[in-house]
Amino acid sequence: MELQINEKKRTSQALPETRLLWVLRDEFDLTGTKYGCGEGQCGACTVLVDGKATRSCQTPISSLAGKEITTIEGLNKTGKLHPVQEAYLKVDVFQCGYCASGMVMSTVALLKSNPQPSEEQIIDFMNGNVCRCGTYPRIVKAIQEAAS
Ligand code: FES
Repeated sequence: MELQINEKKRTSQALPETRLLWVLRDEFDLTGTKYGCGEGQCGACTVLVDGKATRSCQTPISSLAGKEITTIEGLNKTGKLHPVQEAYLKVDVFQCGYCASGMVMSTVALLKSNPQPSEEQIIDFMNGNVCRCGTYPRIVKAIQEAAS
């Protein structure tokens, strides 16, 4: 099946019901997208599908015909970090970093739909992304930094 990933056409040999996460990681070596829970609960596997935050562990590739998939690798096409990545680095958000890719992708989706979110809106939107190190206050700060 044909998929559009990071502005490139890719042909997947996987079965239609295969979850996008495994196609990204195992077939196309896009390992920035992480496997956390595999059940749609942690957000580690978040990518953008047509600009919307999407749990790739829950998304069969059969649902993605004609849609634009963006992974963390697709954020910095010019070789420069995306402004959201810059903000997360500036605030020194991460400890273990496992949730980083999903957090950044969710933040990109949030700021696309709401460029100036309130603290409450940030917390509400990011609610589905879990950080096992508990860096939530810094995540909120980084999102506010990226929005400023
Ligand atoms: Fe997909 Fe946890 S791995 S939500």
